[in-house]
Amino acid sequence: MNNDEKQDYDKMNWLYNAFYGDMETEQLQQLEFIENHKNLLQSYTDKEVYILDSACGNGVKAIALALNGYNVTATDISSEMVKFANEFSKKYNVSISTDVKSWSELPSVFEPQFDIVFNIGNSIVHSPNAVTRENDISSLVQVLKRKGTLVIETRNWEKILAENKRFTVYDKISYLDKEYIPMYHWKFNGIEQESEVEILFQEIWKDNHVELYENSLSFTPFTHMSLLDIMKKLGLDIIKDTFHKECDWYLIYGRKA
Ligand SMILES: C[S@@+](CC[C@H](N)C(=O)[O-])C[C@H]1O[C@@H](n2cnc3c(N)ncnc32)[C@H](O)[C@@H]1O
Repeated sequence: MNNDEKQDYDKMNWLYNAFYGDMETEQLQQLEFIENHKNLLQSYTDKEVYILDSACGNGVKAIALALNGYNVTATDISSEMVKFANEFSKKYNVSISTDVKSWSELPSVFEPQFDIVFNIGNSIVHSPNAVTRENDISSLVQVLKRKGTLVIETRNWEKILAENKRFTVYDKISYLDKEYIPMYHWKFNGIEQESEVEILFQEIWKDNHVELYENSLSFTPFTHMSLLDIMKKLGLDIIKDTFHKECDWYLIYGRKA
């Protein structure tokens, strides 16, 4: 993987800034994500708990973890995203260690040194096929300590494909005197088929002028069972699995023996 190549997410600052740009420190510290994983985080009782956010995006979740006292390393294949994560951590005056790395590169940079590896916010779907997905997840497992936990959070692709929705529209967001309406235009090709989503972002100015930002991302949907099979095959004990056919998202915790 050549990280000098422009990555899909390199131009996503408009979306991430509007979603997260003006959070108060306290709000960030109490992010729903922290509450959702409270039991897992508290199950590691060593004085120092080491966490890797392996698809950190703009770093919002890594920074929330650091604000709660954890030792956090945040990596992402997109150098622009890692740049945001660095700027964001300065803004909140908290220290995280960052690096521009693809999942496949992690074992060459890190020892099996992490108690928890997060791969969240629907990231693993960017592995382009089943073989790469297994290799990528294997890389995440390799940097876990024994008894460490891999957390994978993903959209429920079976449900989404069955619904065959073309558009997802999000609620309006306000940020720095402007209003934003995000919209996803899905172009599905089926399970295990490379697909595309166009992300359209309308920025509405005070005088009602509208600017349009757009970007497209590629992804390859997979079934819940295939993800579970990969995690088990890589030797992980499945200690939590929130999959439900009616729910849009699920997460799986896999513990290394
Ligand atoms: C949907 S975003 C999620 C970001 C963040 N985890 C969140 O919850 O907001 C997916 C992230 O995965 C990163 N990514 C995609 N493929 C990757 C790879 N092979 N290695 C590392 N990061 C990757 C993208 O650059 C992007 O920042």
